[in-house]
Amino acid sequence: MEYLTFALAKGRLAAKTLELLEQIGITCEEMKDKSSRKLIFVNEELKLKFFLSKGPDVPTYVEYGGADIGVVGSDTILEENRRVYEVLDLGFGKCRMCVCGPASAKELLQHHEMIRVASKYPKIAKDYFYNQKHQTVDIIKLNGSVELGPIVGLSDVIVDIVETGSTLKENGLEVLEEICPLSARMIVNQVSMKMEAERIKKILQALKEALKKCEL
Ligand code: PRP
Repeated sequence: MEYLTFALAKGRLAAKTLELLEQIGITCEEMKDKSSRKLIFVNEELKLKFFLSKGPDVPTYVEYGGADIGVVGSDTILEENRRVYEVLDLGFGKCRMCVCGPASAKELLQHHEMIRVASKYPKIAKDYFYNQKHQTVDIIKLNGSVELGPIVGLSDVIVDIVETGSTLKENGLEVLEEICPLSARMIVNQVSMKMEAERIKKILQALKEALKKCEL
């Protein structure tokens, strides 16, 4: 039997995913050793491998077959636009993609003015402003702490993830428009979906049942 490899986005999503996999009897003891510098973890019994990577790399690994299955936020899936199958909404990691800024920027969005938009998600920002709002904007790519954009005068607004809203609040910003809801998704390599159909479908079915139980 070939190994099935999982790529998990580092951080909270990975921890939640491992909890969920445990519920369906998929464990990886090796991964629990936080002091380990190993990059890939194996469950020999089930013939499974796991690795953690930066979120934006998860769809890349899955598209090219470096991993058969990936778990990553739908924000990253939209931004990366890779050829993968999105097979399951895991329901956790819920947040929203929003246009945010100071209250004073609201008007700039209504009158379709040329504005500057800072974002870690230039593709999502471009798609929203160009294709949905039909507003020409200047998009500036940042790699984090995007809320700084309007604070230091780099941009008028930002396109970013809002979870609790506390980062915005503590920095005098607010949600101006909502683009879409987000959550953790499971993605599958297109070839693996055919070659390993039986094993992957079995995992998906078990996950769906576990998720249903969580809802009850
Ligand atoms: C994300 C996002 C916001 C914050 C939102 O940043 O970019 O800054 O979380 O969460 P909240 O609504 O609960 O305050 P992350 O922590 O991933 O770091 P980053 O700024 O480096 O992207």
